[in-house]
Order: sequence, then C-alpha cells, then structure tokens
Amino acid sequence: MNMLITGGSGFIGTNFIRYLLLDSDFDGRIINVDLLTYAGNPENLKDIEKDFPGRYAFIQADICDKEKLASIFNEFDIDTVCHFAAESHVDRSIVAPDAFIQTNIIGTFNLLQIVRDRQKQISRFHHISTDEVFGSLGADGFFTETTPYDPSSPYSASKASSDHLVRAYHRTYGLPATISNCSNNYGPYQFPEKLLPLMILNALEGKALPVYGDGKNIRDWLYVEDHCQAIWEIIKRGKTGETYNIGGNCEMENLSLVQMLCDMVDELAPAKHKTSRRELITFVKDRPGHDRRYAIDASKLKNDLGWTPKTDLKSGLQKTIAWYMEHPDWVKSVKTGEYRNWIKQHYK
Ligand code: NAD
Ligand code: TYD
Repeated sequence: MNMLITGGSGFIGTNFIRYLLLDSDFDGRIINVDLLTYAGNPENLKDIEKDFPGRYAFIQADICDKEKLASIFNEFDIDTVCHFAAESHVDRSIVAPDAFIQTNIIGTFNLLQIVRDRQKQISRFHHISTDEVFGSLGADGFFTETTPYDPSSPYSASKASSDHLVRAYHRTYGLPATISNCSNNYGPYQFPEKLLPLMILNALEGKALPVYGDGKNIRDWLYVEDHCQAIWEIIKRGKTGETYNIGGNCEMENLSLVQMLCDMVDELAPAKHKTSRRELITFVKDRPGHDRRYAIDASKLKNDLGWTPKTDLKSGLQKTIAWYMEHPDWVKSVKTGEYRNWIKQHYK
C-alpha cells in the first residue's frame, strides 16, 4: 500500500502515522502531504522520518495546488488516500472563514479530481469528517449515519460540503470512497487552542480557564488512539460508499469536564499553597452559534467491523495530562512558534 496522508503533521494525522508505523499491521509506505499551517508541526514525526526512511516521506504542499498534488500521485504511485488536512478550529472559522472554504472545500475537491483521473490505480479514498456536520442535539438522542446534515459554524458547513462532494464522487464516478464522522478527539500532540490542551496547560500554569456560556454544552470525547484504530479498520475492511460514525462513548458537560480535569491536575501537579485549580474557572461570553450537544451512535462500526472505543475518559485524560507534563519542550516550541525555525532548516 502506498498511502497518501494529507494533514499528517497535525494532531490526528500525527497520531495516525505513529499508530500505523509503530503499533499496527500496516506494512506499506506513507507519503505525508501537509502545508504546515500554524497547526502542522513536522517535528512531531522527526523520529519517524529517521527510523522509517524507506516507508515514510514528507512533502510540504498545499492540497489546493493541483499540479503539485498530481506530481506526487505519479511519483509515489499512490493507491490509497487518507484525507485529514483541514482548517479545524470552530472559533477561527467564526473570525476568518476564508481558509476554511479554501482548504476544506476546494482542497477536497482538488484531491477528488486527481483521484478521479487515476481511478484505476486508487483502491480507497478515506475522508475524515466530524459529527459537527449534523448540528446540535437536544437532551436526548444520538447522531447516526443517516441523521440529516445541519451544520452551524463556517467550519462545520465547510466539512459538510466536503462530505457531500466525496459522497457525490462515489455515486457519480464510482470513486471507492469511505467517510467517517467522529466526535471530539483528545490526546497527545493537540494544538493548545482546543478545549482540553488549552485547559491542561492553563491549569498547569495557574492561568484562567475560560468556559464559554453556562458550561452546560455537551461533547462526546474520543481518545485519539481509539480513533486511529477505527480509521485503519475502515480503510482495511470498510465498504466503499459507506459512512461510519466514530464515538468515544464519553459524553460530558464542558463544566464538569473542566472540573474533573482540575482535580486530576491538582493530584498530578499539586498547586502552590494547595489551592484548587477549580478556582481558575472563569465563565466567558458564549461562542456564537454554539451547538448544545453532540452524541454519537457508533453501533454500525461495532456491528460491521467489531470496533469499540477502549479508553474511558478518566484514563484517557490522565494519559493526556501526563503527556503534556512530560513534553515541556514540545509545549514551548508550539506556544512560541519556535518549531517554525526547525521547519525552515529542514524543509526550505
Ligand atoms: P489540525 O488542525 O491539528 O491539523 C490539520 C493539519 O492540516 C495541519 O497539519 C495543517 O498544516 C494541515 N493543513 C491545513 N491546511 C492545509 C492545506 N491547504 N494543505 C495541506 N495541509 C493543510 O486538525 P486535526 O484536529 O488533526 O483534525 C484532522 C481532521 O479531523 C480534520 O479534517 C478535522 O476536520 C477532523 N476532525 C477533527 C476532530 C478533532 O477533535 N480534532 C474531530 C472531528 C473531525
Ligand atoms: P473545541 O475544543 O473548540 O471543540 P468543538 O467546538 O469542535 O467541539 O470546544 C469544545 C467545547 O468546549 C465546545 O463546547 C466549546 C467549549 N470551549 C470552552 O468552553 N472554552 C474554550 O476556551 C474552548 C476552546 C472551547
């Protein structure tokens, strides 16, 4: 298998590449194509680059650059695509939606066109999407694969659009595509703008913990390694033309989650004067269009491919907090943008 992974230097892509090469039965070659926006950090994979010289290659490229992408498909004889690359943060999409339309919609369209031109050599195009395409749930119920799309933010609208394109290319041109829609991921290597890494680092540094609105919005939390396993199962054994929901079975209100995290940080890194990190929680103005509740019914993935999440929220959070505590250099490099110098030296 010659697998093109887009966005492999971001949070989930990094974990997926590490999982494939270090922990799974994958025996092929990976070509990671990533533009290295603020969210992409190839330093995450520098040991992989060294340890798997024949099986891992990195190319800095924009998925909107059709010519460059086409030459990569030809040079590396790509037969499988796993598409992560995206602008991924809702708050950024509210302030500046342009890049979301460009990368998430036009970039996906470009990839689809290239794959369509080489249909004979492509055995799978797997598209990574989000449960946010389904909009907001009330107090009850779960998103299933047939829940109608109803996106609220420019981010989720752009992901919904890309999902529709992938599905249309399957139906119209017979593209061997699969799609997965997952809930909120957490774990190592996540950029500290998303809720959990932001709260972990602020709690460790004694800074305010900004909770939007009343803190009663509910998310389902999926440990990133569980997500990576699910994606690999879908690529290997999922049926083309199908969509799979991936959930963590860990629904929680934001405020309760942040409180739980505060208590864990207190235990792992007691604060000076033994104060509780809960005192740092600050309610701030709500996000516009803030979806109230997400919850996933992942029974199709369980019934068809035997996948269920293995990590409960408590142990996943413990591992995640420990990872951030054990990687102060990574945190410093990401927060100061220092890794950009490393990129300049290695890739320009
Ligand atoms: P991320 O923001 O951490 O990483 C995105 C990566 O894509 C970065 O490495 C960035 O450099 C790259 N990229 C951005 N624009 C590009 C372009 N034009 N060309 C090439 N590369 C580009 O995102 P993530 O959290 O790892 O999310 C990966 C995928 O999973 C996204 O498609 C996202 O929508 C989806 N998703 C994420 C979550 C989550 O909780 N993080 C949940 C559901 C779905
Ligand atoms: P986020 O990590 O941005 O993921 P998403 O919006 O894709 O679900 O946010 C998760 C939840 O946490 C969401 O309900 C918004 C909330 N939130 C806060 O309360 N404070 C914050 O500082 C952030 C970033 C998010």
